[in-house]
Amino acid sequence: MAVLFEPFQIRDFKLKNRVCVSPMSQYAAIDGYANDWHFAHLARFALGGCGLVFTEATGVCREGRRTHGDLGLWENGQIEALRRITRFIQSQGSAAGIQLAHAGRKASERRPWHGETPVDAEDVRLRDESPWRAMGPTNEPYGEAWPEPQAMADADIRGVISAFGAAAARADAAGFDVIEVYAAHGFLLHQFYSPLSNTRDDAWGGDFDRRTKLPLAVASVIREQWPEHKALFFRISATDWIDGGWTIEDSVRLAIALKARGVDVIDCSSGGLGGPHPVPRFPLGPAFQSDLAGSVRAGADIATMSVGFIWQAEVANTVIKSGRADLVALARELLNDPNWALRAAAELGDDENYSKWAPAFGWWLDKRNRVMAKLGLSENLVSPTIKK
Ligand SMILES: Cc1cc2nc3c(=O)[nH]c(=O)nc-3n(C[C@H](O)[C@H](O)[C@H](O)COP(=O)(O)O)c2cc1C
Repeated sequence: MAVLFEPFQIRDFKLKNRVCVSPMSQYAAIDGYANDWHFAHLARFALGGCGLVFTEATGVCREGRRTHGDLGLWENGQIEALRRITRFIQSQGSAAGIQLAHAGRKASERRPWHGETPVDAEDVRLRDESPWRAMGPTNEPYGEAWPEPQAMADADIRGVISAFGAAAARADAAGFDVIEVYAAHGFLLHQFYSPLSNTRDDAWGGDFDRRTKLPLAVASVIREQWPEHKALFFRISATDWIDGGWTIEDSVRLAIALKARGVDVIDCSSGGLGGPHPVPRFPLGPAFQSDLAGSVRAGADIATMSVGFIWQAEVANTVIKSGRADLVALARELLNDPNWALRAAAELGDDENYSKWAPAFGWWLDKRNRVMAKLGLSENLVSPTIKK
């Protein structure tokens, strides 16, 4: 069996395979509430055979959303629609994960197709969506044309920690199997641990220990609220790719400290900090971030998930086989083909007769293949890319 399709277990949390859906914001929520769009978007990946299906970045408080369309989990009313989603994902033998987020200085942004620029008066006019004041470790803005965020006071920081704890309790009530904390891509927790964005000189900034105090406190508060038997992931930007910024060595140190606080898996992404620093150059290519996952896995003795530019089954399998990661996460390729995991299983020789597909689909597809074989049309239709 290809390692990509071997089960994976942490605590009581068991995945049927190593293919995970990377969080993908849909910008379709209203007041943070999930709706039919989120259900359909996420259900496809469970039907498509992924072992773990993550929701998009879900705000732990209203001001912590990146855009007006982000999901949220800051009030109990938001639980029910998510419960419907977790129930369906689990009914297909997949696990359901939620990514909890606070955007910090990156909050109050337009949706990508509205420009990824700060919300302003035009949004009020066009969409009845007003800007709000973002918060960050300092008042340095996220980008050149961005308004100054409010530098967070001690009470603001403590408020965010409690919001993560309360959202974790709601995530449990919504039936999720895994929480992933979004501490990457220039969101609040990344803003705190990177020395480039956290230039505070109080208890929450300065040396490594003080800059990582907030992410570690978030891990601890979630563990207080989140059942012992459920898994906790952290998505980090394992390097800023900028001189003087956060490094892979820092990530190994942080991973060791997170593990001591009950974190099970480090999801290794990179970059995205923003601020007045030069746009980083990084080695983009297939599975380009998998070496980062490998360094964290070896250096901190913790399970890792690799993400970024993974679309070939063989590459995904090799990332795991080579010991760089325990899990792979895919985003854009799953938008292109929500059945990617099922096709990958066939391509890697783990499924010949659509046996991994839901019978309502697989029975028909297998029958069509058998008919085609009889007709001498032996083309394998599992995937046009598979050469028999
Ligand atoms: C539509 C879309 C929305 C995304 N939203 C999130 C998000 O909410 N949280 C997150 O951590 N990453 C987000 N990402 C980044 C992906 O999770 C992933 O890290 C990135 O796309 C690289 O993987 P890929 O090459 O497989 O697409 C998003 C990506 C896409 C394409």
